[in-house]
Amino acid sequence: MEKISIWLLFVSLFLVIHVADSVDDAARDALVTFYTGLSNNNRPSDLNFGWNSSSDPCRDKWKGVDCDAKTNSLVKKIEFYNSGLSGFLNATALCNVDSIAASLNLLNLSLNNIGGEIQADIVKCKQLTRLFLGGNQFTGKLPDSMAMLGNLIQLDISNNRFGGELPGLARVSSLQMFLAQNNQLKGEIPAFDFSNLDQFNVSNNNFQGPIPDVSQKFHADSYLNNAGLCGEVLQKTCPPPKKKSKGLSNKGILMFSGYIALGLVIVGLIVFRLTRKKVESVEAPARSPNKVASVDDFVDTKPSFTSVELKTDVSKSDFSINSTESVMVSSSLVVLTSPTVSDLKFEDLLRAPAELLGRGKHGTLYRVIFDNGMVLAVKRIKGWMISIDEFKQRMLRLDQVKHPNVLPPLAFYCSKHEKLLVYEYQLNGSLFTLLHGNRSGRRFEWASRLSVAAKIAEGLAFMHHELHGDGIPHGNLKSSNIMLKSNMEPCISEYGLMAMDPQEPSSMQQQTKDTATSDFKADIYGLGVILLELLTGKLVHNDGVDLTSWVQSVVREEWTVEVFDRALISEGASEEEMLNLLQVAIKCSNQAPESRPSINQVVTMINAIKEEEDKSPVQEP
Ligand SMILES: *[C@@H]1O[C@H](CO)[C@@H](O)[C@H](O)[C@H]1NC(C)=O
Ligand SMILES: *[C@@H]1O[C@H](CO)[C@@H](O)[C@H](O)[C@H]1NC(C)=O
Ligand SMILES: *[C@@H]1O[C@H](CO)[C@@H](O)[C@H](O)[C@H]1NC(C)=O
Ligand SMILES: *[C@@H]1O[C@H](CO)[C@@H](O)[C@H](O)[C@H]1NC(C)=O
Repeated sequence: MEKISIWLLFVSLFLVIHVADSVDDAARDALVTFYTGLSNNNRPSDLNFGWNSSSDPCRDKWKGVDCDAKTNSLVKKIEFYNSGLSGFLNATALCNVDSIAASLNLLNLSLNNIGGEIQADIVKCKQLTRLFLGGNQFTGKLPDSMAMLGNLIQLDISNNRFGGELPGLARVSSLQMFLAQNNQLKGEIPAFDFSNLDQFNVSNNNFQGPIPDVSQKFHADSYLNNAGLCGEVLQKTCPPPKKKSKGLSNKGILMFSGYIALGLVIVGLIVFRLTRKKVESVEAPARSPNKVASVDDFVDTKPSFTSVELKTDVSKSDFSINSTESVMVSSSLVVLTSPTVSDLKFEDLLRAPAELLGRGKHGTLYRVIFDNGMVLAVKRIKGWMISIDEFKQRMLRLDQVKHPNVLPPLAFYCSKHEKLLVYEYQLNGSLFTLLHGNRSGRRFEWASRLSVAAKIAEGLAFMHHELHGDGIPHGNLKSSNIMLKSNMEPCISEYGLMAMDPQEPSSMQQQTKDTATSDFKADIYGLGVILLELLTGKLVHNDGVDLTSWVQSVVREEWTVEVFDRALISEGASEEEMLNLLQVAIKCSNQAPESRPSINQVVTMINAIKEEEDKSPVQEP
């Protein structure tokens, strides 16, 4: 039955595609404008050249245009190589059309005389994987938006007259080629992921500062003639860095009475719980539809510190703060710079009700609500054998590494027996609740799932890249730790909060380089399981059956289609794309850590699938 219906879907999809075998008018007109700019309105005499409003880019095979073979209605490539063009690149015209933005993956304008600046709108061509602008007359600074071309694999801006500093291209974790030689670029070279790059050249520019390629993958001939550059590769020692980190961390440790009060409240809560063991437990009124904690957090718990249930809505009168305790607290609560909590008031804090959200193997989660509407999530970590200093250092280090898809802690508190972390509360709950909670009324389509997968992978890649040297992996990556921001963008929470079980051999105290690497590989496993959850919609542990082994057994029996979430199948999601993501998930969840792919490989694979999805036509359900 299942197979027949999928087959039917495919047939109908095929029919839809066949009807629409021309490029939409907006795209065609934009392309004509784009070419007019590029050519300075000089059209070649060739009659079959195309690029006019009375023909179709795909059907009439415009010169330099390559279309998606399946649909013949989506422009995938534009190539004008050594074509004597001397105009400018109108990215506004080209990239503001949805169908082009969603399908164009190669733009090759190498060896012409094209001039002018690159417009920020280039970022809207978000599917670009290869951008070749080498050997032209481009000027100005590359727009900052280029750092958001998250699918770029190859970028060639060599042999132009680009100036200024490079945008934060290090964020583009998919980048494998960066050629920028023979320009007038200056400033420091961004900290690219050199492990991923296989071609790199910044020779003949005005770059300065240390070469960020610490592994020395590229040699001196990638850096020629940049007077200000230094590094071992160039046999030129860099001046010792100014004691920047010390200044930074001092600045990071800001203590305000308001924040101290927050610690007071939290510890007050705990003291209160400990001293008055049997508090009458009032049933929580169902006031929050979405919770940060997930069902997952409630399973296999052994509440260790007290059997008292936290009452919902603890009010002011409930506090009995021990004053000696509070002195200790005030000296240890560290607030990481954050605009969100900067106008927190002491009285608000005292009045703020706290609610137990969940309790899991590694800690307890509370929600604290303030009068002004601010809601914070407070995580109390338990059983982590880490010294106060080490914990502090780790938190300050984590605070320096920020990615839009990773939730930063706002404050932390640490004493010998207590470790607390404060986050912004996420109203939309976690990926776990989205997938496994009450799903009525909430659709979670394939395109969104893919985009969630891609963003988590990118966030994780960034963190791994930045924190590999510090040996800090996520440590506990799972769907209940993927929170959904107000715009439903996913963000990884609780990064670096341990959670190796103290009994396990790879615990913090005896961590060596090897175990650190395998902990990073454990994150890949966690990511693989999240991908499986996205694909199957199933719980990781269901009636004692483990999701990874279940999927593997089904795939082995070649009932592969049976693994996918029925909601995806009835939505008509592309079976090919789902199968491709399943391959990625299976690779990641390989039992042998060394066989799992690197995070950069995962990002590349997922983005390739996403590219397929983004260019597929809108499907009727
Ligand atoms: C437009 O391009 C098509 C395809 O190359 C060509 O056949 C046609 O003559 C062109 N029309 C004009 C007005 O140039
Ligand atoms: C750009 O176009 C030229 C000519 O078609 C080709 O030699 C060069 O390799 C192209 N770059 C890519 C990767 O398409
Ligand atoms: C670039 O294209 C836009 C249309 O999207 C047009 O309004 C604008 O005039 C073009 N720029 C130039 C300088 O031709
Ligand atoms: C980098 O570019 C410079 C200048 O064009 C060239 O001399 C050098 O050989 C290039 N290096 C590599 C590694 O290709």
